[in-house]
Amino acid sequence: MVKICCIGAGYVGGPTMAVIALKCPEIEVVVVDIAAPRINAWNSDHLPIYEPGLDDVVKQCRGKNLFFSTDVEKHVAEADIVFVSVNTPTKTQGLGAGKAADLTYWESAARMIADVSKSDKIVVEKSTVPVKTAEAIERILTHNRKGINFTILSNPEFLAEGTAIADLFKPDRVLIGGRETPEGQKAIHSLKSVYAHWVPEDRILCTNLWSAELSKLAANAFLAQRISSVNAMSALCEATGADVSQVSHSIGTDSRIGPKFLNASVGFGGSCFQKDILNLVYICECNGLPEVANYWKQVIKVNDYQKMRFVNRVVSSMFNTVSGKKIAVLGFAFKKDTGDTRETPAIDVCKGLLGDKAKLSIYDPQVTEDQIMRDLAMKKFDWDHPAHLQPLSPTSNKQVSVVWDAYEAIKDAHGICVMTEWDEFKNLDYQKVYDSMQKPAFIFDGRNVVDVNKLREIGFIVYSIGKPL
Ligand code: NAD
Ligand code: UGA
Repeated sequence: MVKICCIGAGYVGGPTMAVIALKCPEIEVVVVDIAAPRINAWNSDHLPIYEPGLDDVVKQCRGKNLFFSTDVEKHVAEADIVFVSVNTPTKTQGLGAGKAADLTYWESAARMIADVSKSDKIVVEKSTVPVKTAEAIERILTHNRKGINFTILSNPEFLAEGTAIADLFKPDRVLIGGRETPEGQKAIHSLKSVYAHWVPEDRILCTNLWSAELSKLAANAFLAQRISSVNAMSALCEATGADVSQVSHSIGTDSRIGPKFLNASVGFGGSCFQKDILNLVYICECNGLPEVANYWKQVIKVNDYQKMRFVNRVVSSMFNTVSGKKIAVLGFAFKKDTGDTRETPAIDVCKGLLGDKAKLSIYDPQVTEDQIMRDLAMKKFDWDHPAHLQPLSPTSNKQVSVVWDAYEAIKDAHGICVMTEWDEFKNLDYQKVYDSMQKPAFIFDGRNVVDVNKLREIGFIVYSIGKPL
């Protein structure tokens, strides 16, 4: 029996390993983490992350060939294949702060693997890492060799949150990078045979290590660049009377452009797009390519501009001040079907409105009050560095309330900001909503989910990204 151990029981490690366990019943899969509460949650009826379909997959294999444990060293020592899926956040201090990837967690995992291993292992980079990381990891792994062979592979993950299980069941591709040596090729073959249980062979791409590492950063940069491109267009649409949905549809029917990932929004969020592009920018700068670095930096700048533009629109529409006004914030997660708030545009928008002394009433079906308060009190980039968690600031408590119902959030509000495209926000009883609000009643749709014409008929003043005003 092949044994797999995955270090890091997060958004990637948990679902990915659960699907491997489901599809490969003869493989024992153990997911380990230093965070005991997370492991306890994986072993309970309330999994630590909300992801459609995940509960079902975990229930089918947990206790059979899927295990979650804090005994990191034991399970790493016993494994044939060790996936490393720890967080790789943006550095907050020192050389490259605000751009470079912080590989502290990765390095400590690699040192531990080197220290506890008693048999040969394939070590798989699952985390997103800077290109050439495998070289550094190889050096760490071999420092304590004792005759043990470690073969390193890059196997970046392309799942998106909210659709993780569907993406893992039917990936567009699985990418495996390895050394072009006989050992490297043998390791690629071993990992390929795991995925081949359910992924067609022509969808398993094998490359050299550096291509695999860079392809992950490139894929996220290209995806984010599409959003910044359409968001830049949305500003021009508002200035000219064009409708961004019509523009997206018109350009998306060109088969060379394609229809996906062209939804204008208040900005992209999520744990990875910004950090991976910043990382790419840093790598370009370090390689003496400032023009390339500046090109990709612009994707982040447009995203920041889009969030700021939204805040300015709210404040300027509401007679240049939101001081003391109640604003209902619908949705806080960075996209629908997840409770994840990492880098959600809602944080910057809420902070912008709080800066103008608004009173916020926030509702998200999957995000707790505690999480929202912590997010609003934290400094940029600190969310992925647990040691830097900031205490709650009393001002954010007074100005912010978090409720468990959209209608309660909206009652007596002067304005509504839609921050996440949860389906329920499309189907609210907007006449009832209008009747319960202060007049004039404003709605600012950061996700283009509301029916603008219908709401205008009811009496709302509506602003929707990239739509005629
Ligand atoms: P996460 O923060 O949810 O999970 C990482 C886990 O690693 C945490 O639970 C942490 O406690 C654990 N950890 C850190 N150091 C450890 C150590 N030394 N030993 C044991 N456990 C340790 O992160 P995530 O969202 O799962 O992302 C992991 C990696 O995958 C990142 O590099 C990210 O860029 C990449 N990625 C994420 C996504 C996504 O959708 N979230 C998609 C593709 C790739
Ligand atoms: C993204 C990628 O899609 C995954 O392939 C990748 O594996 C992952 O990052 C990662 O490396 O972490 P994710 O961030 O989970 O996945 O979700 P996306 O669906 O890509 O959405 C990211 C952000 O862009 C969200 O805030 C979403 O609302 C926004 N978005 C997306 C738009 O504003 N417009 C669009 O057309 C699409």
